[in-house]
Amino acid sequence: MSQSLLVTNIHQLVLAEETPRTKPLRGSELAQLPVIENAWLLVENQRITDFGEMENCPERADKILNATGRFVLPCWCDSHTHLVFAKNREEEWVDRIKGRSYEEIAARGGGILNSAARLQETPEEVLFGQAQERLQEVRKSGTGLLEIKSGYGLTVESELKMLRVIRRLKEASDVGIKATFLGAHSVPMAYRNGNRQGYIDLIINEMLPKIAGEGLADYIDVFCEKLAFSVAETEEIMAAGARYGLRPKIHVNQFNCMGGIAAAVRHGAVSVDHLEVVDDADIEALKNSETIATLLPSAPFFLNDDHRPPARGLIEAGIPVALASDFNPGTSPSGRMPFVVSLACIQLKMLPEEAIQAATLNGAFALEAAANYGSIARGKLANFLITRPMPSLAYLPYAFGSDLVERVFLKGKE
Ligand code: NIG
Ligand code: FE
Repeated sequence: MSQSLLVTNIHQLVLAEETPRTKPLRGSELAQLPVIENAWLLVENQRITDFGEMENCPERADKILNATGRFVLPCWCDSHTHLVFAKNREEEWVDRIKGRSYEEIAARGGGILNSAARLQETPEEVLFGQAQERLQEVRKSGTGLLEIKSGYGLTVESELKMLRVIRRLKEASDVGIKATFLGAHSVPMAYRNGNRQGYIDLIINEMLPKIAGEGLADYIDVFCEKLAFSVAETEEIMAAGARYGLRPKIHVNQFNCMGGIAAAVRHGAVSVDHLEVVDDADIEALKNSETIATLLPSAPFFLNDDHRPPARGLIEAGIPVALASDFNPGTSPSGRMPFVVSLACIQLKMLPEEAIQAATLNGAFALEAAANYGSIARGKLANFLITRPMPSLAYLPYAFGSDLVERVFLKGKE
């Protein structure tokens, strides 16, 4: 029997669900944030067993933690990251300051191909050590569930190496982790002169069977974009993934509207991610679907791109919106979710309540893991964070540079 933990005198217990939601929040639901004032929270055997108002607080527990003046929130569920990579790319960032665009740098073999060259020469052990450090950092800022993609390997051997690193992280960490196979992140140079199909065949006939055979991936992803893969190629790869039971989560509409969203919806995508540009047909395709729109505001922020995902339009159309960090060396060299939540409020005009629910519960739905993650609910894993004393919940995204996450508990352990 593990020890029970009782957190008392919580100023506000945030996203406390009497009846846990079974579907992602849409439309006006996103702003309706259930909060209990002056609350307690009880944890036993790694899970949340009960919570309520202080006037009905249990008298005994093995350990009692007084949270006077503090807010308790469910941990962030970061449903889109590239946390395993070999090297940062600050030189390219300086090139962009001097005026080169992200797409220009990518077309010359920089960008993803640059990261792939570095990753291919880096041993698994080194990648694992670096990723553990990044994981430690994001968990300190309150992340309790995380998706990690491959996609900097781009060869059979190196894609497998990345996915094995992700599997080792899963085994070694208390943070919940889901793995996504993103072999279709970029077409390697050797295939660019008239043999794109050769690389797609490699993904479908060599990579996928091995990855599925070792159970290394939970999802399949494709970078559907002019500088990466066409809609038809994306469909071919999604269909191949489906034969191994891998549902798609797709990079789409980062720079161009190409019809990729409708294609992803047709293939039952769990989420479509980025959406810096969207047109009416994209909104129509998402409207009557179960697919979640995952917005990554730190990518256009870091690229200083004026195109921002139309969060308000998506919410008003009743489309479920999640927020994620996109932690990667090219477009978002940070996995700190409190900053993502701030950016969503500042630049996407999401209300603090909306942004917090999009970064927790809807993120958990975007990883099909809401039964255990994403809210304070009886029976869910005890993954929660305690803030420093704050005057209000809105203060958390408002004070965007401050480190307001004081303590983080994963499966009931600090
Ligand atoms: O989500 N858009 C594609 N993939 C990443 C960036 C990858 C990189 O530049 O290394 C993204 O922004
Ligand atoms: Fe990404």
